[in-house]
Amino acid sequence: MDHREVGRYWDGNADAWTRLARAGYDVYRDAFNTPAFLAMLPEVEGLLGLDIGCGEGHNTRLVAGRGARMVAVDVSERFVRHAGRAEGEQALGIRYQVASAVELPFRDAAFDFATSFMCLMDVPEVEQVLKETHRVLKPGGFLQFSICHPCFDTPHRRNLRDAAGTTYAIEVGDYFVRREGEVTEWLFSAAPPEATEGLPKFRVPRFTRTLNEWLNAVLNAGFLLERVEEPRPSDAVVREYPGVQDAQVVAYFLHLRCRKP
Ligand SMILES: C[S@@+](CC[C@H](N)C(=O)[O-])C[C@H]1O[C@@H](n2cnc3c(N)ncnc32)[C@H](O)[C@@H]1O
Repeated sequence: MDHREVGRYWDGNADAWTRLARAGYDVYRDAFNTPAFLAMLPEVEGLLGLDIGCGEGHNTRLVAGRGARMVAVDVSERFVRHAGRAEGEQALGIRYQVASAVELPFRDAAFDFATSFMCLMDVPEVEQVLKETHRVLKPGGFLQFSICHPCFDTPHRRNLRDAAGTTYAIEVGDYFVRREGEVTEWLFSAAPPEATEGLPKFRVPRFTRTLNEWLNAVLNAGFLLERVEEPRPSDAVVREYPGVQDAQVVAYFLHLRCRKP
């Protein structure tokens, strides 16, 4: 399965995803994943940034809110349409474009920085994406991206819960077994049945890589690794969003920032 075929799956997810995420059911994103990403993001005011795999644009808008001039791409036309509509309703100066991260339609050294929120683990040709991103960044520019944590989002994974339903461990396995496009079906776990009624499940082709493969791909693209974070929700966040308690047990997400020398 290549990035174009993956893109068709995402296009099929775009309407339901946009509706549920905008209704507040992407709680891991909203409760701590995006806040942690933004806490790690360097000053971007006045800089020209590229957001890769922008989806309906929620996180792009947050980066634009920090004063960056943003261009955003997504392989899914429907996601880009939703994002463009939001820009039409409240203009932040973001330019959205349908494009695959594998073939960025920009000249060399066009951007001061790039972001990618929870997208790169969905692209089979991730090595090529990192090289493309390196190409379109100015020397000294950075890429900051988040992905599912490769050590804990393994082909085999099971939440182990106590009698009260509290997760106390995550069973992981098959770490070294690659998934290459196995289609998983799910919806945001926080969405109640009345919110998901009539909606098709998301169909997401899954690709897995080990931690060393990710880090080596970053280095092989010519980047220097600058910062690594493994965000988790605080106790206060878990009190507000009890559904994210399991993300206190192991790291669900990995955030990396790397720089083009
Ligand atoms: C999990 S969603 C994340 C969306 C958004 N960044 C967010 O944080 O809400 C993954 C996104 O990556 C996009 N995507 C997948 N493969 C891509 C590719 N090759 N190029 C660009 N975008 C891609 C999907 O269409 C989808 O919008």
